[in-house]
Amino acid sequence: MSGRLQDKVAVITGGASGMGQATVYRFLAEGASVVIGDLNVETGAATMAEIEKQGAADRAAFMVTDVAEEADVEALVACAAGKFGRLDCIYNNAGVGGAIGPISETRVEEWDFTFNVLVRSVFLGMKHAARVLQDQGEGGSIISTSSVAGLGGGGGPHAYSAAKAAVANLTRAVSGELANYRIRVNAIAPGVITTPLFHAGHAEKAEAMATRIVPWPRLGTGEDIAAMAVYLASDESEYVTGQNMVVDGGVTAAGPNLWGYGPDSPILRKSGVTHGSTGVDSDIRDVEG
Ligand SMILES: NC(=O)c1ccc[n+]([C@@H]2O[C@H](COP(=O)([O-])OP(=O)(O)OC[C@H]3O[C@@H](n4cnc5c(N)ncnc54)[C@H](O)[C@@H]3O)[C@@H](O)[C@H]2O)c1
Repeated sequence: MSGRLQDKVAVITGGASGMGQATVYRFLAEGASVVIGDLNVETGAATMAEIEKQGAADRAAFMVTDVAEEADVEALVACAAGKFGRLDCIYNNAGVGGAIGPISETRVEEWDFTFNVLVRSVFLGMKHAARVLQDQGEGGSIISTSSVAGLGGGGGPHAYSAAKAAVANLTRAVSGELANYRIRVNAIAPGVITTPLFHAGHAEKAEAMATRIVPWPRLGTGEDIAAMAVYLASDESEYVTGQNMVVDGGVTAAGPNLWGYGPDSPILRKSGVTHGSTGVDSDIRDVEG
């Protein structure tokens, strides 16, 4: 049986951990060949060992890559074409938390590091993938990881938040440029996803905090993001471009979420209609059960 990405060739950055790694495994399971670019040699080797166990080693390659360095990204993209003969998709996903703390304390080099890893990398991935895809002349898919932190303040440190907003808007801008070539350009904005980056070594604390703000009755996983990446890399998303696809279990839809959605939520324990300050009596009843 052929997979949804049968015979496609993809480059995935940050593929040695978290949602990138989950996407690598899923793309391979869907019939694609994958080149992983990551800075971490150890987790890269562990990922390749797992791929070997899964019997897909002949369709996978790992390259030590710093996504903030142009020569590295160019070589990574060239590796896909060199080893597997073509390129269909790049997923610019590698990332770090970057600069933290008050704006008054943030050093310029910390700010620049954050933007280099999170935004310069996406520019470089788009640039070098676009060159190859345009030359091939058969379209393709460029995917980048943004974040719900880029949709407003309060979802992450200031530099991270600004960088992820930049990823979403770079995606919109470049999608128009590449549409004539049938190259789709989209971003995935994850919500709270249980990965090493999110846990930062404090899994229980992080999960307890996040569970309060996510309406869906569990936190997100790398596989939730991988499923969206499969869609965006597949021919089924042929007419979808310039989008920032939010995968967040309802976090952004919930907005300020003042009342909560659980069984104790004050606006879900009662039913009826209030007439506010009109002087007309409200008609409120208890919800059974
Ligand atoms: N986990 C979340 O809740 C969440 C939410 C929204 C967005 N994101 C974003 O999702 C993406 C993946 O994060 P994750 O949660 O899977 O984290 P992760 O730490 O599990 O994986 C990130 C990977 O990126 C690699 N990486 C970091 N800097 C790199 C560089 N300069 N060059 C090459 N590789 C580098 C790391 O080595 C690691 O393997 C990131 O862009 C992150 O900002 C995560």
